[in-house]
This record gives sequence, structure tokens and C-alpha cells, in this order.
Amino acid sequence: MKYNFDEVIERKGTDSVKWDGVESRWGRNDLIPMWVADMDFRTAPFVVEALKKRLEHEVLGYTFACKEWSESIVKWLINRHGWAIRENMLTFTPGIVRGLAFAVQCFTEKGDKIMVMPPVYHPFFLVSERNERQVVFSPLVLKEGSLYIDFNRFEKDIAGCKLLILSNPHNPGGRVWTKEELHRIAEICYDKGTLVISDEIHADLTLPPYHHSTFALVSEKARMNSLVFMSPSKAFNMPGLASSYVVIENESLLNRFRTYMEASEFNEGHLFAYLSVAAAYSHGTEWLDQVIDYIQGNIDFTENFLKSNIPVIGMIRPQASYLIFLDCRKLGLKQEELNRLFVEDAHLALNDGTTFGKEGEGFMRLNVACPRSVLAQALQQLERAVSNRKICMQ
Ligand SMILES: Cc1ncc(COP(=O)(O)O)c(C=O)c1O
Repeated sequence: MKYNFDEVIERKGTDSVKWDGVESRWGRNDLIPMWVADMDFRTAPFVVEALKKRLEHEVLGYTFACKEWSESIVKWLINRHGWAIRENMLTFTPGIVRGLAFAVQCFTEKGDKIMVMPPVYHPFFLVSERNERQVVFSPLVLKEGSLYIDFNRFEKDIAGCKLLILSNPHNPGGRVWTKEELHRIAEICYDKGTLVISDEIHADLTLPPYHHSTFALVSEKARMNSLVFMSPSKAFNMPGLASSYVVIENESLLNRFRTYMEASEFNEGHLFAYLSVAAAYSHGTEWLDQVIDYIQGNIDFTENFLKSNIPVIGMIRPQASYLIFLDCRKLGLKQEELNRLFVEDAHLALNDGTTFGKEGEGFMRLNVACPRSVLAQALQQLERAVSNRKICMQ
């Protein structure tokens, strides 16, 4: 490997939400942080270089998007995802969650119904609720270690919903939806008049042998009835730059969203937002392939460790990204006790599964985008905590 993902980099003292936020969240600072979805690896070096180079000029005046911003996105989408778009289909958004919030405000009114499929990335329902929309929860089902859509239920639940917010691939289940599943979602939503927001932030971290399907590509109905949100922020580890974009192929949806965004200049990015995307997409292939390999190795390591040393804890093996939903239900603990086991006994900071909806009860979300030595340490701490608990219970 050309890049060293084994290096342990001190992140404390950088106002990192994941590292420095532990104390305010748990009231202690002796936990290994494995929660917030960013990586403990160096941001891709060509991104850092591009920012440093620009800083050397020492005049940080107003700037518009560099032409490489849109050009690199167009090239990336065709080369990596087989999606041929035109530059004028792109709108900048200052982060994906904000982009989703803008879409909620632009395409729905207070009281309108928005559907999400829990367990799911919590801002989908929090943003909807805080904007006084009515959230319809249509739970996924867990079968043979993977999450699936119950389409009978989906079809009933979607009736009357103005929007569906879809995590494609799925967080926290790591599911890469198949073309067939997405096609079915597209058919149902189009026929029921529900607009689909496809959040594809984890798409570039799809793990072989799985293949990501861009929602807009699965059918004409999908293309005409969707907003697809994307960003290099997860894949190249630059979420602190709040730089993402949305692709809208349908001209009338595009005009409506663009008008909404321009009214308040929400679509204006900052200097580094544009440069970082251009750098990531122009030079990113080799680095990305290597980080994916490393993540896959960490997932294998976790799976083997659990099987050999903590078989009472299972996991949903992610098909994309570095988040593992740990199935702790066999421990037979109430959620509060489960949290205590992880925090007080194992000294680990993970996301409580119920953050993603009540369907996450008995689960904890583990972020394995860290050096393998840190992951090994964390899993050993968990093993010790679980075996001590068993001794106490005997
Ligand atoms: C599905 C999904 N969407 C969006 C985000 C956050 O995106 P942003 O930081 O661009 O708002 C995350 C972060 O974990 C995520 O998992």
C-alpha cells in the first residue's frame, strides 16, 4: 500500500466532534471514540495539498466555483458511477444534511408527510420533525443478517407522503440497495406522487463485490422524480469542509430547487469547498481504492474477532462504508444497561442503536475507520467487558 492507514494520528485538541465531543456527550474522556462518521485517517493528501497551495496565495477574497468543480464532478460520475450528467444539473449544497433540509423546505409544507425507513441516519427524521413535518416510519426488516425493505408495508406507508428520504447505500445497516429494489421504490413513488430524495454520501465507499446503483439511473421514473445528493466528504475524509452537491435531472424540479436556494444564497459555496471537491475527484481513484481495501480489512478483522472471542455479539456486515451495526440482542440487556456496558465497562464511545429509531434497540453502531491497532484495542476492551459481565451474572 502506498498510503499508511495504520498511523495513529492524535485528533484530540482539534475541536473534533468525534474526539473532543466525547467529554460533553458522556461526561468523561477515557473512551475510545468510535461514533461520529468520519475517519481517523489523514484526509486524502492531494486534497490537503490543493488547499495548502491556495493558502500560499494569502488573499482569501470572494471566489466563485472553479471550473474544475463541475468538470471533475461530471467526470467522476461517469467514470465511477456510469452516470452521464450535464454541469447545469448540479447545485452546490453546504453539506448533505443541510441540503436535505432545504429540499424539505422547498418541496413540502408544514404538516406534510415525509417517509423514512428506520433504523436510519437520524437527521432524516430529526430535520423533518424540527421543520414541523409529519414523519412516517416504515421500518426495514432484518433477515439473515441484512436489512430489507418490506414492500407490502412500504406501499401502504408511502400513501400520502410528499417525500421519501432514502439512504442509498444505507446507514446504519450498510446495505447497498440492488437495482431491482431501487426500481421498485421508483415505480411506487412515481405512481403515488412521492418525490424521492436519494442520499448517496456513502456511495463511493461501496465495498467489493457490491455495486452502487445511482437512484436516478434505475429507470425513467426514477430519473424524473428524484434529487440525488452526493459528496466526496465521507470517501476522502473531508466532512469538516461542508461541501456537497445535488444532481437533479428533471428540469422543473431543478428550477424549483434552484430558485429556492438562490433566494437565500444557500447554494453559494466557500473557496475551499469547491477546491477540495475538484482535488478529490481529479486525483482520488488510487487513494480511494486503498482506503476501501483497508476498511474491508477492518470489517473482516471485526467479524473474525467477534466470532472467535465475543460470539454473543453479532454484526450486520456492511456492503458499503465503515459503519457496523453490532447486534447485541443476545446479551439480553436493556438499552440503558447495554450503553453502560460499552461506556463504563469497555470504555468505548459508540452510537446507541436507538438513535436511528426504536428498531435499533439492542444494537450499537461501531465506526471502524481507524488504524487497525486502535480497533484491536477497542475490541479487546469489549471482550473483557463482556466476559466480566458474564462472570458477574453467574
Ligand atoms: C446517510 C448520511 N447522510 C448525510 C451525512 C452527513 O452529511 P453532511 O456532513 O454532508 O451533512 C451522513 C453522515 O454520517 C450520513 O451517514
